[in-house]
Amino acid sequence: MINALRGMKDLTFEESERFVHIVTTAIGIAKKYGYEYIETPILEETKLFKRSVGESSDIVGKEMYQFTDKGENDVCMRPEGTAGVVRAFVQAKLDRQQSAKFKFYYYGPMFRYERPQKGRLREFHQFGCESFGEASVYEDFTMIQLIGDIFKALGIGYNLQINSLGCPTCMPSYRQNLVGFLTECQEELCEDCNRRIDTNPIRVLDCKNEKCQMLLKDSSKLINNLCQSCDDDFKKLVKLLNREEINYEINTNLVRGLDYYNKTAFEFVSNEIGSQSAIAGGGRYDKLVEFLDGKATPAVGFALGIERILELVQMPQIEREGYYLGVMDDGAIDALFPLASRKRTTNKVTVEYEAKKLKAHLKGADKVHARYCAFIGEDEFKNGTIWVKDLVSKEEITLTQEEF
Ligand code: HAM
Repeated sequence: MINALRGMKDLTFEESERFVHIVTTAIGIAKKYGYEYIETPILEETKLFKRSVGESSDIVGKEMYQFTDKGENDVCMRPEGTAGVVRAFVQAKLDRQQSAKFKFYYYGPMFRYERPQKGRLREFHQFGCESFGEASVYEDFTMIQLIGDIFKALGIGYNLQINSLGCPTCMPSYRQNLVGFLTECQEELCEDCNRRIDTNPIRVLDCKNEKCQMLLKDSSKLINNLCQSCDDDFKKLVKLLNREEINYEINTNLVRGLDYYNKTAFEFVSNEIGSQSAIAGGGRYDKLVEFLDGKATPAVGFALGIERILELVQMPQIEREGYYLGVMDDGAIDALFPLASRKRTTNKVTVEYEAKKLKAHLKGADKVHARYCAFIGEDEFKNGTIWVKDLVSKEEITLTQEEF
């Protein structure tokens, strides 16, 4: 038997129903906020992710599904959606349009060669939104509201964590001070953090090692060292969240695992799904379009992890709908098809090809959650009629096939 690869899974039946429910709910809400669908390839040039997600990130450094294709191109299965959307935005020259404002949503599989565990897969699915051309912090707030609306519609509780990652004006001097601080306590930091001092010192802030976290308690925090513009925006965001009574927590160690962020960073966390608790994350990435050879365009976005949310979502009660059609005798089956086609123009229709007794058909109708079970038995076949039972009201009726 051939099994799916480690860290990759099949979704079927009730689970795949919930998957579709999450995606359709998220799409409905994203559309209300003015987002339009974008589809980008799963396979991209490796350098796209190196340049955007960052060479020093774990994703690019350790987790890429990277290979050389038959044309000797260095390619990679996308580990996330933002880089591809930005590439598409620049490729379509949308950055060149006057006061260009574009909002895109997407969903689909992402690939990261991580150590699989509960909530951490090698192939997982994200739903995401990317907003281009809006520098205002109101857009960051609106995006947080959008995610909140999705979780509300899905009936999911969460904790929102926010931080500011500064900008090229304030981040470099903070990073320099942090490197000084980390170098002084270098010997006590874990092996990973020692490496990060040179490659990506900011990532030390969200190290999971308890000892590193203890040491960091005494380090100065970026939100206390922001430039005027970043400080104003962060205070404004906090004010808007307070005003709209959206609960949040300022997490000064929230740096996100991707290098393209500046200013607002946020994560939605659930305390009901174990250690892999981030159910959505995102933030502002005002430099990425430029970095990928486009015209400077402010941008903000997020993605949510569908498999993690699957664990939290209850399906709404399935309502009975449509028709189930069955016969008692093989000879009558041909009579079902014109009836099925006619009904299917406005209804969900299931046809059972195997001739069975009525009782078995009623069970079949129940299984597919049909509202009506329609049946051609011996008498009905002879008379050109059809027997119909409403499985909600329990009413039974015999109609001519024309009337049906
Ligand atoms: P991210 O935080 O890397 O951000 O991923 C977003 C969400 O994807 C996470 O919060 C989590 O729910 C889910 N996720 C990530 N890795 C896994 C995994 N191995 N298994 C299952 N679920 C996972 C991004 O990807 C950014 N592109 C978000 C963004 C969009 N920022 C701006 N625009």
